[in-house]
Amino acid sequence: MAKKGIVLTGDRPTGKLHLGHFVGSIKSRLSLQDEYEQFIMVADMQALTDNADNPEKVRNSVFEVVLDNIAAGLDPAKTHFFIQSRIPEIASLNMLFQNLITYGRLMQNPTVKTEMKDKQYEGNVPVGFLTYPISQAADILAFKPDLVPVGNDQLPMIELTNEVVEKFNRIYGDTFQKVKAISADKNSAEARLPGIDGSAKMGKSLNNAIYLSDTEEVVQEKIMNMYTDPDHVHVEDPGRVGGNVVFTYLDVFDQDKESLANLKEKYKAGGLGDVEIKKRLIKVINDFLDPIRERREHLSTKPDFIKDVVKEGEEVARRVVQATYKEVTEAMGINYY
Ligand code: TRP
Repeated sequence: MAKKGIVLTGDRPTGKLHLGHFVGSIKSRLSLQDEYEQFIMVADMQALTDNADNPEKVRNSVFEVVLDNIAAGLDPAKTHFFIQSRIPEIASLNMLFQNLITYGRLMQNPTVKTEMKDKQYEGNVPVGFLTYPISQAADILAFKPDLVPVGNDQLPMIELTNEVVEKFNRIYGDTFQKVKAISADKNSAEARLPGIDGSAKMGKSLNNAIYLSDTEEVVQEKIMNMYTDPDHVHVEDPGRVGGNVVFTYLDVFDQDKESLANLKEKYKAGGLGDVEIKKRLIKVINDFLDPIRERREHLSTKPDFIKDVVKEGEEVARRVVQATYKEVTEAMGINYY
């Protein structure tokens, strides 16, 4: 079947993938892999921009991230996985693109600004971290993709990528087309899946995520501790649905929308305990994770499989990147011989 175009996306290997990753990006990857030639980059060099002193964290996550994606249903026969640092032309493109973006422009990137604040870099931000949006533009443009599925926080990177496109084409001649991001609607439950404690950000350091690799027991424990409505003290009290994490997750994962609507009405009216809604969510999430667990279990019997997958993916990715790199050096006139 002729493919509709190229999809490129990436993950930072800094830990296991969680439900937020699933609804934020893996879901769209699953729906794209049949019709598009899809590449998923394990962005180890990007992960090192804020983990230079902790390379084993990155190293240990590289294959785990691929395993998580495959267990989640991505088919390595359809989707090409590869490791960023294995294709050095991407870093060369980064270096050429760095000349097209100003320091002032980088400093405006809202995602980088938030991350810098969270990491309390103050005046000591690593230059590689500050400039990672340009390196991400190189990741993307190396593949000349038609679509780039990303989480909402990544939209400023796509904007910057298109600024590189504009500037590059203006100076060196038409080489790149603008890229299109696909991400969940900013106001949808998918785009805003909170941590189990109700905080907007989910992650390892906050210890508030449900991982794709969590066991049934861990899921149960995490959901029993989930943030609900702090004013809903007695079963008979009316409860709040908005901002109640259990309902936010049910909205995303529970397919039985009709009975969910009834449940919400009952909760709001009073007479429905938190334990009951939590039990429902535990079942919904464990049902959702079961096939992922089965695939993971199956893969664990084939220890070399993941490595073979990234080696094969790399071969395909390398050809694409090298073709782009050749075109870039020709456009710039630095193809000396
Ligand atoms: N910055 C992305 C994230 O943190 C990961 C990433 C790296 C990426 N390179 C990419 C995403 C290229 C899309 C395209 O999730």
